[in-house]
Amino acid sequence: MAEICVLGLGYVGLPTASLLAGAGFHVMGVDINPDVVKALNQGKTNLKEAGLAMMVSAAFQSRNLVAATEPEPSHTFIICVPTPTLPDHRVDLRAVESATRSILPHLRRGNLVILESTSPVGTTRDVVGRILAESGLEPGVDFDLCYCPERVLPGNTVAELVNNDRVIGGYTTQSAEAAKAIYERFCQGKLTLTDDKTAELCKLMENTYRDVNIALANVFANICESEGIDVWKAIQNANLHPRVKILNPGPGVGGHCIPVDPWFLIQQYPQHTQLLRAARLVNDGQGVRMLDRLMETDRLRAGDKLTILGASYKADIDDPRESPAYLVADAAHARGVKVAIHDPLVVPGTYHGHPVTNDLTGALTGAAAAMLITDHKAYRSLSSRAFTDAMTGRLIADTRLALNHASLKLAGFTVLTTGIGESGEAKAEPAAPQVIITDAAKKTLSRV
Ligand SMILES: NC(=O)c1ccc[n+]([C@@H]2O[C@H](COP(=O)([O-])OP(=O)(O)OC[C@H]3O[C@@H](n4cnc5c(N)ncnc54)[C@H](O)[C@@H]3O)[C@@H](O)[C@H]2O)c1
Repeated sequence: MAEICVLGLGYVGLPTASLLAGAGFHVMGVDINPDVVKALNQGKTNLKEAGLAMMVSAAFQSRNLVAATEPEPSHTFIICVPTPTLPDHRVDLRAVESATRSILPHLRRGNLVILESTSPVGTTRDVVGRILAESGLEPGVDFDLCYCPERVLPGNTVAELVNNDRVIGGYTTQSAEAAKAIYERFCQGKLTLTDDKTAELCKLMENTYRDVNIALANVFANICESEGIDVWKAIQNANLHPRVKILNPGPGVGGHCIPVDPWFLIQQYPQHTQLLRAARLVNDGQGVRMLDRLMETDRLRAGDKLTILGASYKADIDDPRESPAYLVADAAHARGVKVAIHDPLVVPGTYHGHPVTNDLTGALTGAAAAMLITDHKAYRSLSSRAFTDAMTGRLIADTRLALNHASLKLAGFTVLTTGIGESGEAKAEPAAPQVIITDAAKKTLSRV
């Protein structure tokens, strides 16, 4: 019998299961995807996360981590399954419900059930708790129930799981204490105990805060475009104020969390969330706004080809979910423009209905225009030859100020950028995000 069963072995569940195995627990990883289970039972993973492949392999060799498609009786069950939104932005809790139902036959008195999936306020008690109560056992009395959200940064998940502070929300205080005893075995951040509903709201507040603040930077960028003001300089200057920290503007937001989680609050509390809804619309409109600017030049027209550079929502990661690239591609198709999407890291395939390739030259060949969405390191070092040799047009939009504008302009390109208009100059390159494995994380890794 496993001590801990982790349900859902994706970007959150697999690193969590591996760290728990490394901390000495007997862990069963459960996933409904048999390919994930098969890979894990060979000590492998397809997820590109710093340190993860090594940790999975070590956990597998120590026999502390095995995988299956169904849970088995355990002391603790941790649910890390997806909570996406439906096309009308309502949350889709089917994976949480089915994972909870798969625990039901194995639930015993004294067990601990933890929900980690980002969820609307009340999900832990009203969805997970209610389903589990069908066993005849009462949450908070016969078994412990908790909500413990994740704050990991994709690309650096393992180190963040170890080092980040965590909020642990118990249905009862005893439930929170029980979960703390598990997390403190691998987490070196501060563990703060609260109730389940507060912890659920905390997680949604964190991502909504990011979404609204990025929308604010984008609104400033759009104002600067109409005034011919360089928004990057304006933000730098405004941030000299000791209590102001405006974020960077760009093509919008992406990933599994920031464009999704605010909708949980908007759906649940429509009367309080006009600001949140407006921020969602601003961020979702940014990439399309740039597409319109390209088309206004009349050098990208219906029938022409646009190459989108970057399908992951963030630099130097392979996660293709919810990128602004797909919103731009959808809008381009609606305007009769053909689209090719390139990404150096994303596994080639079709995402949100759009094919993504690793072949840069193929993607650029015959393009009238290109639009950079993701500031991957691989794009920062591109020479203008990469574009001139393949493209038919000389029009580029750089939503992140990642390309070498001086050399592109020398090669005859018109470069449009976020917030500084067509005539703006390229700024000094912002530092590329770094994957950091801290000493503390290294120590934990060395134990597995
Ligand atoms: N990825 C992140 O950076 C991040 C950060 C914070 C919070 N979260 C939240 O964590 C949750 C999980 O996200 P993720 O990125 O790990 O998702 P993911 O899509 O990478 O992985 C989820 C896994 O769950 C599996 N699954 C689906 N239904 C299942 C079921 N009934 N039983 C067992 N396995 C099942 C899927 O096959 C998949 O492998 C989501 O709620 C997400 O919002 C993610």
